[in-house]
Amino acid sequence: MLAPSLLSADFGNLARDIEIVNRSSADWLHIDIMDGVFVPNISFGFPVLEYVNKLSQKPLDVHLMIVEPTKFIEECKRVGAMMMNIHYEVSPHLHRSVTAIRNAGMKAGVTLNPHTPVELLEDIVADVDLVLLMSVNPGFGGQKFIENTYSKIARLRSMIERRGSKALIEVDGGVNLDNAARLYQAGADVLVAGNAVFRSGDIAATIEAFKNL
Ligand code: DX5
Ligand code: ZN
Repeated sequence: MLAPSLLSADFGNLARDIEIVNRSSADWLHIDIMDGVFVPNISFGFPVLEYVNKLSQKPLDVHLMIVEPTKFIEECKRVGAMMMNIHYEVSPHLHRSVTAIRNAGMKAGVTLNPHTPVELLEDIVADVDLVLLMSVNPGFGGQKFIENTYSKIARLRSMIERRGSKALIEVDGGVNLDNAARLYQAGADVLVAGNAVFRSGDIAATIEAFKNL
């Protein structure tokens, strides 16, 4: 599956870019929300997402790069999130948080920064719908892919199988047409791509190129 990241879209023409994604075979629309605290950048928030939800025909894969993400469970549901991804690094009571997200009617994703070992998910992986592996330090689009991600995918894939988990593996950051095939082969189910899609010069053709790998 492919989830183009709206962070790299043309914010002056969001409706146009969302419509191009609607007409494509992309699977989800990835939405990056930042707070300037957990990550050193601020993107956009729920008032924008409310309109994105009205325009998008693709399920919204919301990635919260914020502290205290569970404060916003109801807000995420209200603006149409299909998947709510929260970071492991800001979640002291992860089981409680994941349960609350699911009880609110969304799928629950847990996100790991590049330095956070997948082994820390051993006792929660059976209870989550998705694990989002950051393959760059979160906060900005257009960064260089971190190669250690391949080994994390493989280790997570074997943990998921061993634990009888149904969790999907998603990879986010520095994904492009040159590394996508290897990421899928390593065991990724969903790839996020921002710059590679929206700054390619031909959004629709690039999405189809990803989907035809
Ligand atoms: C980074 C975000 C990513 C970002 C990816 O903090 O979480 O979703 O949009 O952008 P690219 O694909 O350009 O690295
Ligand atoms: Zn993201």
